[in-house]
Amino acid sequence: MRIPGPEPRADGGVGAVAAAGGLHVYQLRLHAEYGPVVRFQLPGAETAVSVADPVLLEATAHIDKRPERLFEFLAPLCEAGNLQVLPADEHTPWRRLLLSVLAGRPSHERHFARFTALTTEVADRWAKRAGHGPVELQKDLTELSLRMICAYALGGDVEDPDRVVTAFEEVLTEYLGRLYRTPAAEREESRKSAEGAEEALAYLRAVVDRVVVARRAGGRVDRSDLVGALVDAGERPARIRDTVMMTMLAAHHTTGVAVSWTLHLLGRHPEVAERVTEELDRVLGDRAAPGYADLRRLTYLEMVLKEAMRLYPPGPYGARETTEALALGEYEIPAGATVFYPFWAVHMNADYWPEPEKFVPERFTPEEVAKRPRLAYIPFGLGPRGCEGAGLAMVEAELVLAVLLKRFRFRPVPGHEVRPIERFVLWAADDIRMFVSPRVPG
Ligand code: HEM
Repeated sequence: MRIPGPEPRADGGVGAVAAAGGLHVYQLRLHAEYGPVVRFQLPGAETAVSVADPVLLEATAHIDKRPERLFEFLAPLCEAGNLQVLPADEHTPWRRLLLSVLAGRPSHERHFARFTALTTEVADRWAKRAGHGPVELQKDLTELSLRMICAYALGGDVEDPDRVVTAFEEVLTEYLGRLYRTPAAEREESRKSAEGAEEALAYLRAVVDRVVVARRAGGRVDRSDLVGALVDAGERPARIRDTVMMTMLAAHHTTGVAVSWTLHLLGRHPEVAERVTEELDRVLGDRAAPGYADLRRLTYLEMVLKEAMRLYPPGPYGARETTEALALGEYEIPAGATVFYPFWAVHMNADYWPEPEKFVPERFTPEEVAKRPRLAYIPFGLGPRGCEGAGLAMVEAELVLAVLLKRFRFRPVPGHEVRPIERFVLWAADDIRMFVSPRVPG
């Protein structure tokens, strides 16, 4: 059966995506109009199919290949092959190694005190701002998550963490800027910023090299240490440098926006915020921050975070390329097709999420979760290319939320419009500004 979708246009579909304000919104509209499986035009893909039905998605969950064209903008950040599109035989051992560190409790516990200290620094800064106008959540919280992942990936061996953070921001601004800049603006692109980004990239690579040398000299094998594990596994230096860059890239904006969107929603739902703080007071008592073991007792906070990532998935979509023909319900997808994962449209599928636009954390009680198909909720993607950092991200986000919500009340700024746009992650166009006031005066 022919897959439904809009008639092809001469511009290859670019105009329709731009008119919608980005691929994620375009997908939402396409699925609303044509149903759960839609064929659409995507530059560089002969056949592109978007799937917003969690049951049909199962048929794609084994695919271990990403379409190169969609991720080629990340190639300059890698020296030993673009990690986003590594062939399956190279990707599988790399993934296993990454998971052995990122998904393990020892690595989360080991970095927890440092994560708490970094979060407390932000909270102290905000405490001084209380009464002096709103804070910019997205800016401060994405920077916090960059500091956290820096500490996580590079450990305490870095001489100048501030410079690492600045250099990484410079690299990202340039490379993501290239992706989102219009061609006309691209021509005006200043050579200076490109050169600055090259220098910043070289600096970061040199920093990683120094950490590698220190690990080798130390001779210690520590499975909770990312660089240590890569060295121990005999990875070549270029692949280690690439892995650190890619991990920082994947971890940084995503975790920061997850926390920002959650606080945004809580600011608009004071009754939910109240329940979160009740739980925090009950579990933490007078303590300002949770210990690692407390996190699993913060069950309502976790439900709130999950519901926030349903409504605002930090990474709004993913993609695969079929290596053989695939049956998708009543449709047949040819080999070499791009299968698009519209995470946002999946999370807004009213068949599984009644009144999908409503913020209802109770959707994530174990009983409710058990009623839904496995892939109805996929903020971290799925299958062999799904996010290796999901466990770490949840730990980081819950810790940050716990510290901030224990200490502050968040209120929206009247008249400030919070508008989601796609900028590699689901970003708020003009930040998320909120008034922050201490919960316990004094
Ligand atoms: C809330 C935070 C985060 C979200 C929502 C998120 C989401 C995602 C998504 C949607 C993908 C693509 C998955 C797919 O194609 O199926 C991805 C990939 C990835 N993420 Fe995350 N991520 C987060 C945090 C992190 C963190 C903290 C790390 C590492 C420390 C990380 C490391 C990675 C890596 C390495 C990949 C590439 C996976 C591969 O190609 O095998 N992410 N993430």
